[in-house]
Amino acid sequence: MDYTNMSAYYDVIMTSGYYDYPGIVDSLLSHRPVQNVIEIGCGTGLILEEIAKREPSIRLKGIDLTQAMLDIAAQRLKDYKNIELSCQNVVDFELHEQFDVAYSYGGVWYFVIDGDKEPFMVSHIADHALNVRGLHQLAQHLKPQGQLLLGIQGPHFDYEKTISNGMTYAQEIIPSDIGFVKHYHLLDQQKEVMAQTVNYRTYSFQDAQEMLGVHGIGYVSKDPGGKFLRFQKR
Ligand SMILES: C[S@@+](CC[C@H](N)C(=O)[O-])C[C@H]1O[C@@H](n2cnc3c(N)ncnc32)[C@H](O)[C@@H]1O
Repeated sequence: MDYTNMSAYYDVIMTSGYYDYPGIVDSLLSHRPVQNVIEIGCGTGLILEEIAKREPSIRLKGIDLTQAMLDIAAQRLKDYKNIELSCQNVVDFELHEQFDVAYSYGGVWYFVIDGDKEPFMVSHIADHALNVRGLHQLAQHLKPQGQLLLGIQGPHFDYEKTISNGMTYAQEIIPSDIGFVKHYHLLDQQKEVMAQTVNYRTYSFQDAQEMLGVHGIGYVSKDPGGKFLRFQKR
């Protein structure tokens, strides 16, 4: 799913409390020692920057299919020589390298956990066959014993709120045959300045585990910080 429409507003929405970036990186860095890490769907590079600031020796790569998001990331990360960005779709990406840790937070695949209910996986990729291909590509890029960390989010619901630049962010969730559709809007004095719709596919926890299990990637645990579900390749 292309994020060009949202790219110019992405940082102000996200840094108005949408994601807890320092908490995400606390969780990521509890999986050490690691030499190299890849983020799938790195967007504007907010997580990569936080890792690089704290751990300058880890080699970091970020892939994303939206060039407009990567342009912002490239600007943000220009002083970090240990980070490489690449405009690729996870469905057929190729980096000729295997990683100790691959993670995705809100990008491509993540899990929703609603109270005591079983987690379910959400994918930015609506087509099932493309999800299978993407997970295959991802598995090829993990070292044996490598870790796959997929972000956890709470249940999605409709809301609107004022963000730090005074604009109003609103989101609306509509169930669909394959999962749900999410409409995002940004309003400046009642005038719509950005709108984006994403068609998400969802998978039960069992289906997600089977799709990963085909590649020898098994579920390990939920991170203590509650930010990621951790999987490991055999
Ligand atoms: C909600 S943003 C998350 C960005 C970043 N992880 C963060 O935490 O700020 C989702 C990102 O996933 C990217 N994305 C969606 N589908 C993708 C795919 N098939 N391959 C690569 N990137 C994808 C989008 O372009 C977008 O930048």
